[in-house]
Amino acid sequence: MAREPVIKRPPQQSDYRDDDRDLRPQRMHEMVGQREVFARLEIAIDAARKRREPLGHILFDGPPGLGKTTFAMCIPRELGVPLQIASGAALTAPKDLIPYLTNAEERSVLFIDEIHRIPKSVEEFLYPAMEDYRIDVTIGEGVNARTINMHLKPFTLIGATTRSGMLSAPLRDRFQMREHLDFYSVEELAEIVSRNAKKLQVQTDPAAAREIASRSRGTPRLANNRLRWVRDYAQSKADGRITRAVACDALAMQGVDKLGLDPLDRKYLETIARVFGGGPVGVEAVAHTLNISADTLIDEVEPYLLRSELLVRTPRGRKLTPTAYEHLGLMVPGKDPPADRPTLFD
Ligand SMILES: Nc1ncnc2c1ncn2[C@@H]1O[C@H](COP(=O)(O)OP(=O)(O)O)[C@@H](O)[C@H]1O
Ligand SMILES: [Mg+2]
Repeated sequence: MAREPVIKRPPQQSDYRDDDRDLRPQRMHEMVGQREVFARLEIAIDAARKRREPLGHILFDGPPGLGKTTFAMCIPRELGVPLQIASGAALTAPKDLIPYLTNAEERSVLFIDEIHRIPKSVEEFLYPAMEDYRIDVTIGEGVNARTINMHLKPFTLIGATTRSGMLSAPLRDRFQMREHLDFYSVEELAEIVSRNAKKLQVQTDPAAAREIASRSRGTPRLANNRLRWVRDYAQSKADGRITRAVACDALAMQGVDKLGLDPLDRKYLETIARVFGGGPVGVEAVAHTLNISADTLIDEVEPYLLRSELLVRTPRGRKLTPTAYEHLGLMVPGKDPPADRPTLFD
C-alpha cells in the first residue's frame, strides 16, 4: 500500500487581508462597468450551473485596481461554491500548490492572484491539474523517490495578472476564457463614487462625485481611496459634506491634479522631459533615476499615462507626447512657449 503523502492544510480564508472589504461589491450585479466582460461571464456561469459542471478556467488581466480580484471573489458566490485564494508569489514550488489542489471541492474555485509570478516548475505542475484534474506527486528522495498520480475533483482555476505577457503560451492557452479589464469611464467611476459615498454615509454632491471620478485615473481602487481621503478632509476641514470645492481642495492637498495624476506620475513625466530630453528612453533608466523599481513603473504608473496619450512606447523606449508637455506646463521641444502656464489643480 502506498503511504498517503502528507498534505498541508492551505491557509484559512480569514488570513487573506481585504483592505477593501467595506466597499468591494459582493455580487456581480453590484459591479459597475466592464459590461462586455460581465455579459460573457454571466453566460458562462449560467451554463455551468445548468450543466452542473465546473466553470471553465478564467484568466483576468489588466492594470491594478480594475476589478480582477472582485470578479474572482464574486464568481464563486454566483456559482454557490467554495473559494480558495492563493498568491502566485507564495507558490515557489509545486508542493506549495498541492494542499490547494487536493482540498479543492467539486466545482469549487481556486483563485491564484499574480499568477505571472509562479515559477516554471509550478506552471508545469498546473498543466495536468487544469487539463485532466490530476497531478503527479513525487514522494521521498533520491533512490527511494516515487511518483504517484493523484486524481483531483473537477475545479475551476481563476488567475489574475497585471502582466499576461509574462505567462507562457501553454499556460495562457489552458484558460478557456481570457478577459482583459480596461480603465473605467468617468461616468462609471462617478457611479461607483456615489454608491460608495452612501455606503460610507457621507453626503456627496453629484458634481463632487464626478470631480473625484475624473481624478481617479480610470481606476475604481483609486476612486475609493480618493473618496476616503476627501471624506476625512470634509469632516476635518469643512462641515462633513463633500462638495466639488471640498473635493478639489482635498485632492490638491494630496498633489492629485486635474487629470488625476499624482506626484509620482508627474515626477515620472518630468524626469523623462528634463533628464532624458523627452525620450525615447528605456524604462530601466527612468526607474534608476527615480530610485524606484521598473516593475512599479510598468504596472502602476505607465498604463494610465499610455492610455491617456501622455506617453508613447516606441521600439527605442518611452517618449513624451506634446500633451504631456502642455499638461506639465513645460515647453514642447521645437514649439513656442505656452502663453500662460496652465494650472495643474483647478
Ligand atoms: N466594477 C466595479 N464596480 C465597483 N467597484 C469596483 C469594481 N471593480 C473594482 N472595484 C473596487 O475597486 C477595488 C479594487 O478592485 P480589485 O478587484 O481589488 O482590483 P484588482 O484585483 O484588479 O487589482 C475593489 O475593492 C472595489 O471596491
Ligand atoms: Mg487584485
